[in-house]
Amino acid sequence: MSAALLNAGLGLPQAFARLLIDWQRLHGRSGLPWQHTRDPYRVWLSEVMLQQTQVGTVLQYFPRFLDRFPSVQALAAASADEVMALWAGLGYYSRARNLHRCAQAVVAQHGGVFPVKAWELQTLPGIGASTAAAIAAFCHGERVSIVDGNVRRVLSRLLAFDGDLAQTTRQREMWDLAQALLPDEPSPEDMTTYTQGLMDLGATVCVRRRPACERCPVQTLCRAFDAGTVLNYPVKTRQLKRRHESWWLLLLCRRSLAGAGQVWLERRPAPGIWAGLYCPPVYSSEAALLAAVPEPCHALFQPQQTVAHSLTHRELRLQPWLLDARELQPPLASGGQWVDLGALHAHGLPSPVRQMLTHLLA
Ligand code: ADE
Repeated sequence: MSAALLNAGLGLPQAFARLLIDWQRLHGRSGLPWQHTRDPYRVWLSEVMLQQTQVGTVLQYFPRFLDRFPSVQALAAASADEVMALWAGLGYYSRARNLHRCAQAVVAQHGGVFPVKAWELQTLPGIGASTAAAIAAFCHGERVSIVDGNVRRVLSRLLAFDGDLAQTTRQREMWDLAQALLPDEPSPEDMTTYTQGLMDLGATVCVRRRPACERCPVQTLCRAFDAGTVLNYPVKTRQLKRRHESWWLLLLCRRSLAGAGQVWLERRPAPGIWAGLYCPPVYSSEAALLAAVPEPCHALFQPQQTVAHSLTHRELRLQPWLLDARELQPPLASGGQWVDLGALHAHGLPSPVRQMLTHLLA
């Protein structure tokens, strides 16, 4: 379906926008700490955190982050280490590195003021088309559409759009349709409400597996509902294939008689998974782990229960092998440090590693 066809329809865009805005005001999410502000710093921070993380988790991180970095200048001036430590647990750590870079670019290139227009926001690190549109719509009422995963699902059902969204040309068409559905000459308030409404509808009603069509404000306009084919959309042929991988983690510990202890941690190299975070040394096979430790210590290893951890493109099996290091200097040439178990919270650790260390050692 082309945008022209859509516009030739029976006033679909305006009816859709009106119903969505009215529904958002009555039933949408309100009172989230990043709503009811037009401060681009806060809106940007929330949108980056929300890119791949549930609202419930972001609610814990957002105020903590703002407490420590109340302005884009404060964030730009921070060390990468400190940014990582505050981000630890949110996952997708390239977001934190880009966040820091973006803050530095806003300060260095834009005098500490975020650009206003979506096209210009998109030139900054870590800000894609949809995030740029969300910031511009929320902060300045720009008439520009977000197209994230939720919105693709809502609109592909509404329009019974059967193009394969694994293809870039079809994604482009979807973006054109999203633009064609925007309200005509919206006030900044309406543009904010419309944008939030699209997000809220996708997150709370038009969900992937069990959509609540009986509660949907645009059910009467929905072509997929009409045809009884809601679950056929969105169409996406390319399935994400996750690679299976096992990692052996050397948990080298020193314990004192008082029960306090230390664990040997290294910074993960960049680029790669968990780059910049602290982690016990990682080996890709049992043989590699054994080769890193002097032979007399092999009998002292205590293998622990495997931990499964899913990343976007990988299924990791983490195999923690505990070794008491009382008699052993760290055999590791790669650099690292002893960290007090009581001070783990001050270090940026991947969340499965933090949980593992807390469970096994603390
Ligand atoms: N997901 C992405 N942006 C969001 C927002 N502003 N509110 C709730 N969920 C979101």
